[in-house]
Amino acid sequence: MSRHILTAVAWPYASGPRHIGHVAGFGVPSDVFSRYQRMAGNRVLMVSGTDEHGTPITVAADAEGVSPRELADRYNRVIVEDLRHLGLSYDLFTRTSTRNHHAVAQEIFLGLHKNGYVFPQKTLGAISPSTGRTLPDRYIEGTCPICSYDGARGDQCDNCGNQLDPTDLINPRSRINGETPKFVETEHFFLDLPAFADALGSWLQARTNWRSNVLKFSLNLLDDLKPRAYTRDIDWGVPVPLDGWRDRPDKRIYVWFDAVVGYLSASIEWAQRIGDPDAWRAWWQDPDARSYYFMGKDNIVFHAEIWPAQLLGYNGEGAHGGTPGSLGRLALPHEVVSSEYLTMEGRKFSSSRRVAIYVRDFLSRYDADALRYYLSVAGPETADTDFTWSEFVRRNNDELVATWGNLVNRSVSFAAKNIGEIPAAGELTEADRAILERSRSAFGTVGAELERSHIKAAVNESMRTVADANKYLSEQAPWRLRESDPARMRTVLHVALQLVDDAKTLLTPFLPTSSEKVYGMLGGEGRWAGMPELREVTEEVGPGESHSYPVLMGDYATEAAWESRSIKPGTPLRAPTPLFTKLDPSVVDDELARLERST
Ligand code: MF3
Ligand code: ZN
Repeated sequence: MSRHILTAVAWPYASGPRHIGHVAGFGVPSDVFSRYQRMAGNRVLMVSGTDEHGTPITVAADAEGVSPRELADRYNRVIVEDLRHLGLSYDLFTRTSTRNHHAVAQEIFLGLHKNGYVFPQKTLGAISPSTGRTLPDRYIEGTCPICSYDGARGDQCDNCGNQLDPTDLINPRSRINGETPKFVETEHFFLDLPAFADALGSWLQARTNWRSNVLKFSLNLLDDLKPRAYTRDIDWGVPVPLDGWRDRPDKRIYVWFDAVVGYLSASIEWAQRIGDPDAWRAWWQDPDARSYYFMGKDNIVFHAEIWPAQLLGYNGEGAHGGTPGSLGRLALPHEVVSSEYLTMEGRKFSSSRRVAIYVRDFLSRYDADALRYYLSVAGPETADTDFTWSEFVRRNNDELVATWGNLVNRSVSFAAKNIGEIPAAGELTEADRAILERSRSAFGTVGAELERSHIKAAVNESMRTVADANKYLSEQAPWRLRESDPARMRTVLHVALQLVDDAKTLLTPFLPTSSEKVYGMLGGEGRWAGMPELREVTEEVGPGESHSYPVLMGDYATEAAWESRSIKPGTPLRAPTPLFTKLDPSVVDDELARLERST
């Protein structure tokens, strides 16, 4: 049965270039998952974009001395290029500063307002005495009133994990210049989270398919549901769509509350772009559709609590009841797939301290498949994980080059040189049958892991299949049969080429570029692994004024299917070019020196 699968990928802030820690969390896992789902015959819609509002953008813009719009334009382009080079197969990668996104974010707010789940309330807001500007929660630091940790932030304490308000902090100070903030009265809309306690509880109780740490963390959030401010005192973001608020330059929807709506607005934008404006509904309203949200663990709150609450309220499914807004009832996440953190050479990635390996730099020196492989096999899937250059070089050389590359090279070049085409098999031995069956059954085992986004287990099992194929080839040693038993040699090569063909299919979700090459070597025609394309689009931003920006889209309908396909004897073989680049061990020292220079 073909199912609609929404792959909802966390939206990177357009506040700077993204480092490999970012793409380890949201990028590679979501792409591996989506590529597999498409090959398995499902209808995938994979959407995301750059997150362009709020203080993450305004603070970075101030630091670079440019406007928020200029900053977002600049890094949107950089990020789009990075993701394209990594081969991430977005059906649409857009941005939150579009008119469509603003309209959809406002529609969700209005639906919540209509059903009584947002309400205005006076509260105390922090301002900087020296500049007179509002100080965002996360830029206020102080002592946690609950655990006494001294580095707690105005929105939460990273030590005990509790949500805080800036006014809760003992000895609050600005992280920008150390001054003590002044608290003044201000009015904001609040999302009535306590009204969703029951609905969120029963929804989460049914999420038995989630990774246990993610589910446990999400259930814990329910113990402390308080109304949360839906708006902020800031001039950059989505305006509040109500009379008396709409035209105020100093009030905007909180960046997180607009960003999560991006999954929906991007789905709607995609449908418009393909000329079928209602096409998005199959992923949001068909009861059999499933949505998978990919992110790093610091995003769980917003995907397992806030966004579901927004959806429930829009649907009229909280304690105050109500009816769905004009878009109709919208589905809650099927699974929140969260990974942990990637540290680098023992340190936490930090763009501000420049402890970072940027995607762009990485891909200027190494292949995308090498990075995709590393992040699949050694990424932070269920625990914080350290990236080291020595491990990168080792896995590249031992696993990609010496295991998979070697299998392809030994079998395809020998067959190309000695036969020139895929040979037919004679009678199969017990060993032939066993290895072919082993290879065929890998589609079931690897597929079952990918189904559950167990990327690491899936790639490990695929590579074990490759290792077994190598062992078969060494044992059968067709090169020793050339004179003595050419018929048997042809049979062994036939089996070996079938194993190569199967392995390239199994590895396609992880290694699309090299799998495409192997497909070509074995005589495949047409496209095997679809790649994202950059399209320049324009949008009216004012009367007679239009704005051009890049989006990623792609045609991912290809020949690839998740199954073993019998190779065709007689197909001409091309001598292989190396699939992967062997790295010199000196790479490790070079990269470590580069890192030291930058910090
Ligand atoms: N920009 C956020 C971050 O980098 C992620 C936003 S995910 C979204 O942490 F869905 F909310 F957009
Ligand atoms: Zn604390």
